[in-house]
Amino acid sequence: MSLVGSAATAAYVRAGHPPVRAIAPLAEGVWRIEDADGRKVVVKHQLFGRLTQGTAYDLLEVERDVLGFLHRAGCPVPAVLGIDREAHCIFLQWVGDRTLDDAIQDGDRATTIQAIRGLCAIERAFSQRADQLEPRVVPSANRAALAAAWDEAGERAHAGIEQLCRRLQRSLDAGLRPLLETMHDWLAARPASLGSVDYNARNAIVEPGGTRIYFLEFAKIGWDWTERRLTQYTSSMGSGRQDGRMRSLLDAPAAHLYAEESGRSDSARALNYHRIFFLLNSAALLCAVLDGEPHAQALRQHWKRPYARLRQCAAMLSQDLSTDPSAAEFRSRLQLCLSSSGGTL
Ligand SMILES: Nc1ncnc2c1ncn2[C@@H]1O[C@H](COP(=O)(O)OP(=O)(O)OP(=O)(O)O)[C@@H](O)[C@H]1O
Ligand SMILES: [Mg+2]
Repeated sequence: MSLVGSAATAAYVRAGHPPVRAIAPLAEGVWRIEDADGRKVVVKHQLFGRLTQGTAYDLLEVERDVLGFLHRAGCPVPAVLGIDREAHCIFLQWVGDRTLDDAIQDGDRATTIQAIRGLCAIERAFSQRADQLEPRVVPSANRAALAAAWDEAGERAHAGIEQLCRRLQRSLDAGLRPLLETMHDWLAARPASLGSVDYNARNAIVEPGGTRIYFLEFAKIGWDWTERRLTQYTSSMGSGRQDGRMRSLLDAPAAHLYAEESGRSDSARALNYHRIFFLLNSAALLCAVLDGEPHAQALRQHWKRPYARLRQCAAMLSQDLSTDPSAAEFRSRLQLCLSSSGGTL
């Protein structure tokens, strides 16, 4: 066991829990332990905890407080069993081994409803406490940071379309750029909500033997759009898997269900648009990997078969999630580029 692992288990016992019987690593600085009472617990070492100590956005305290209030509000998150400030560790209820990413790769669509309901419950709980939580937002996820990140995502989406067309030896349809800009601006004007800033399918766990989805990682909170979170929680890149592929739980019925759960009439439209931006950003990154660009080198080892992923990305781009004229026109123009005889991906 690593030194940090030993310190983490020692901290667990020091906090008054029974001796540790077994320990297994889950991720860098995260272990599952089984104590002498047979209880399975996750110990997470907050590597950067020291840097935020004494601030309102202290990683350890924010994760404890946020998971605590979400759990009390009945949201699907693990219970917090304690923290150790000296060892920078948090102790959590273990909620299962299978991530939502694994389930999506396996084609398990039964998780869709729980993912939507779970995220909506969390977003509602956050919005009810927005006044108390706002001061605890990490500076890198404040409103100004969100606006800057969204502008960057818009630029990368344009690059994604250009790269796709270049690979197809097609000239870029001049109507695509203004359509993307319209969608980008419409999304930017929608109200953002407080929540996790690290939303992806590996930060959600499918309960063993059940369909409940638990959401993880609330050490940093900040502003973002629910639909952007939902898109990324329900999309899987299958990173690190030889057979990994781009997959998503989102389809038109899922978008309809989300619109009902969220109670907003424009939710499905927002989800539709966010998915387009997510896929175009993915396409830009995949093309950078294929072009051997230095900044994308690290991704190559995680995203096996990038060419196949790019094809899957293009196929997903053609699937509509809602009836919206801008998205429909965008897709039909893009479809012309993707399917005409200029080249194949
Ligand atoms: N309560 C839990 N129950 C089951 N598995 C968990 C639990 N907490 C974490 N894990 C597993 O450990 C992995 C890493 O945990 P987590 O996402 O919280 O930390 P991280 O990504 O290392 O954290 P951070 O980004 O905050 O440094 C998760 O993807 C999940 O597989
Ligand atoms: Mg994580």
